Amino acid sequence: MNDFLIAPSILSADFARLGEDVANVLAAGADVIHFDVMDNHFVPNLSFGAPICKALRDYGITAPIDVHLMVKPVDRIIPDFANAGASMITFHVEATDHIDRTLQLIKEHGCKAGVVFNPATPLHHLDYIMDKVDMILIMSVNPGFGGQSFIPSTLDKLRQVRQRIDASGRDIRLEVDGGVNVDNIAEIAAAGADMFVAGSAIFNEPDYKVAIDKMRVQLAE
Ligand code: DX5
Ligand code: ZN
Repeated sequence: MNDFLIAPSILSADFARLGEDVANVLAAGADVIHFDVMDNHFVPNLSFGAPICKALRDYGITAPIDVHLMVKPVDRIIPDFANAGASMITFHVEATDHIDRTLQLIKEHGCKAGVVFNPATPLHHLDYIMDKVDMILIMSVNPGFGGQSFIPSTLDKLRQVRQRIDASGRDIRLEVDGGVNVDNIAEIAAAGADMFVAGSAIFNEPDYKVAIDKMRVQLAE
């Protein structure tokens, strides 16, 4: 895997021809497919569920699928996504009463597991799970919609999480999601992120490869 992972959010893809669009963005150099699941309860929007994930696998998509669950409650739906071909599953700390149990559940189903923090959610939930997470996702917008602006206070939060990850000595991905684009990705990487979700900044561009290449240039500098 690359040191820096670019994970296009298919929330901004063309749903009417999703398989083709996902294949195109992978051919353009994406590392991971970011799969946003919204329930119109935990977040004020509705997207797609496990059958769509399975449909992508059946279509022939073999790249890692990073399932971001914006769903409450969350435990019941985890096996569905594991069976549908998810590679990694993240959930919001507010979406379960038992963070440790939910992490275990994801791992028992053979997926990498991670927790998600909304912009105003404090990091203390990490105190007793650093030995259990494979990834930590910091939201840089309030979840529910693509195309929002990056919230600047997220940079300091990323720095704090990066310190915790380095202190843990474990191989934990630091993912950032929301408002990431060519103009701010270098600053976000400097704050410690190494996995970048980008929806509108890739799918709203006419040429996905140009968009991804421009991000990689920023990450290399
Ligand atoms: C927001 C989602 C994001 C979103 C990112 O709730 O979790 O993944 O699709 O979209 P952009 O990159 O357009 O902010
Ligand atoms: Zn997301």
